[in-house]
Amino acid sequence: MQGVDGQNERVGGRSVAAPVARLDKGPRLLVDTIHTIKQERVLTSPKIEPHPHRLHWDTRYRDAYQERLPSSLLLRWLRRLRPGHALDVACGAGRNTLPLAEQGWQVLGVDISPVGLHIAQRVARQRSLSVDLVAVDLTTWALPLARFDLICVFRFLDRGLCPLLASALRPGGTLIYETFTVAQRAYEGGPRSEALLLKSGELPTLFPMLEQLEYDEGIVEEDGRSRALAGFVGRRREE
Ligand SMILES: C[S@@+](CC[C@H](N)C(=O)[O-])C[C@H]1O[C@@H](n2cnc3c(N)ncnc32)[C@H](O)[C@@H]1O
Repeated sequence: MQGVDGQNERVGGRSVAAPVARLDKGPRLLVDTIHTIKQERVLTSPKIEPHPHRLHWDTRYRDAYQERLPSSLLLRWLRRLRPGHALDVACGAGRNTLPLAEQGWQVLGVDISPVGLHIAQRVARQRSLSVDLVAVDLTTWALPLARFDLICVFRFLDRGLCPLLASALRPGGTLIYETFTVAQRAYEGGPRSEALLLKSGELPTLFPMLEQLEYDEGIVEEDGRSRALAGFVGRRREE
């Protein structure tokens, strides 16, 4: 599997890989990877698979999937960036993965839900798009070092993953991160737990190693519902 071979190093207390990634053509879905990761993790983690998030999200994508528009933050920034290698973290059904591929990026989308990834794969085929989709548990995935020109994270939060995301950017690479804040609790839908909700002003503090290019937080109207979101764009400094 591209992206997790090579030697492991440690960043922020977690394992990262220094792989030789070659993202080939065609919408490829590597669901078996989740089992490979699981075996690696037996040595390093007491966690037992399958992760409850996988069951939860598989059910949601199977029973209640609704196509949504891509992030406007992402679309706005894509106009300024030159296509290269991109990673869409917790990509789900590919809401943002597929627009990246459409604009010439070589995209790797990773998510814990094979059901979500199958939806992304199906739509990629319909649109003749080339993407790589890999089922991984991000709480244990060994990210590659200095691999991506762009990393996107939308509506997912794992604070422990943040230093690894910064390390997975190439020097000069860009991170675009948008997810819910605690203000979402006043509105219908979205996560409720502290672990999944950002405090006001918290997102930039999770990436002290990146140069901040943009930060905003507030309430946006989307599909007739209010969403309390924080959006951060940062760049890894050139070495
Ligand atoms: C709210 S959805 C966001 C999906 C997509 N980023 C978007 O904006 O449409 C959250 C995603 O996080 C994924 N996820 C949750 N826990 C995960 C984990 N431990 N590892 C990988 N993905 C995970 C879920 O499967 C789900 O697709």
